[in-house]
Amino acid sequence: MRTTVGIIGGGPAGLLLARLLRLAGVDSVVLEARDRAYVEQRQRAGILEQATVDALRACGAGERMDRQGLVHDGVELRFDRRAHRIDFPSLTGGRRVMVYAQTEVVKDLIALQLDCGGPLLFEARATVVEGADTATPVIRFTQEGRERTLECDYVVGCDGFHGVARDAIPAGVRQTFERVYPYSWLGILADVAPSCDELIYAHSPRGFALHSMRSPLVSRLYLQVPNGEDPADWPDGRIWDELDARFAIDGDWKLDRGPITAKSVLPMRSSVTEPMRYGRVLLAGDAAHIVPPAGAKGLNLAAADVIVLARALAALRDTGSAELLDDYSRTCLRRVWRAEHFSYFLTTTLHNEPGQSPFATRLQTAQLDRIAGSKAAATDFAENYTGLPIG
Ligand code: FAD
Ligand code: DHB
Repeated sequence: MRTTVGIIGGGPAGLLLARLLRLAGVDSVVLEARDRAYVEQRQRAGILEQATVDALRACGAGERMDRQGLVHDGVELRFDRRAHRIDFPSLTGGRRVMVYAQTEVVKDLIALQLDCGGPLLFEARATVVEGADTATPVIRFTQEGRERTLECDYVVGCDGFHGVARDAIPAGVRQTFERVYPYSWLGILADVAPSCDELIYAHSPRGFALHSMRSPLVSRLYLQVPNGEDPADWPDGRIWDELDARFAIDGDWKLDRGPITAKSVLPMRSSVTEPMRYGRVLLAGDAAHIVPPAGAKGLNLAAADVIVLARALAALRDTGSAELLDDYSRTCLRRVWRAEHFSYFLTTTLHNEPGQSPFATRLQTAQLDRIAGSKAAATDFAENYTGLPIG
């Protein structure tokens, strides 16, 4: 098989890239290791930045999002038993975010791809990328027990943190910068209307908690837990009691409980691999960088990478100029590191480290107090949360 752009991975990055290339008239093939149902059900992110929303709309994947997504104009920060709202549009010149689950984004993009895109092969697992520094790189993959090859002009690794594309960059060229955190999130889905109109990020002496949502009838909540925690040790009553304690404020507020339909533990790390391009192999999304989830940046960074990349590949085809492609890694890494910093900052400001000193806790609440009380600090938070311009 032969194509212009071979895309490894049918997550948000790979699917959006295939769609953008299709609209630019560049052909591609997507290889996805798992089956369609698995990819469509995998519970992950829930918040889309303005630029991601705009990109999905512009590529024809916004219709259901605009009907079912929930537009949010702010978030609430809770600490010291007080609640503070950060208003995005007034601080950012009108930017807002959309609550629309990654599962739904993926479903919409898969439907479009199968309807009017290039080949999207499920249960097609790439094993190795060869010839990154030649004019015709090759992806070797297995499908239905058979070994196959896909010859390409360019290979894009959208295969997530555990993918194989990163290995195409020689060890002597590749650098990975990483930090692992001493806590995880226990995430739940519950069949109960959210107890808030906007997301709540809570700092408490008992640890971090986040109240998010998936729809007007489904809540998504997270609790900081120690690494290695077993969800089986968290019966439903214990989860609701702990959430209650962490969201507690002085004044009226009540967390509504309902049947919990899913529980999982999510470890967290920060990681960046540089460069994001070697020869004719390019990395995008989680294949190149991971953020801890507190800033809601993972999916949005993946979208930003492929928007930059699709533009560069379209410019190469239209004008013959490789200038944008040559700048791909530098353009993306600048934004990636900003988002890495914001995600790290929010994570370390909101979570309690094991054995954290009272001094460190006072610094955290001083920082949160600054965001709540200063327009400059709130603006910085709002600009980062709603997403910086795509370079
Ligand atoms: P992925 O979504 O990981 O997609 C990669 C795709 O490549 C997968 O479909 C995989 O099956 C496929 N693949 C892998 N290897 C191969 C191979 N060898 N051959 C072919 N296909 C392959 N972000 C947030 O902002 N908020 C959250 O709450 C949040 N929760 C998360 C929870 C979990 C458990 C995880 C893992 C991530 C979470 N993230 C969250 C991050 C966010 O979901 C990711 O940043 C986003 O999925 C990145 O998209 P991607 O397309 O780059 O990678
Ligand atoms: C969600 C996840 C996040 O990490 C976040 O910061 C906000 C929302 C979510 O899954 O809804």
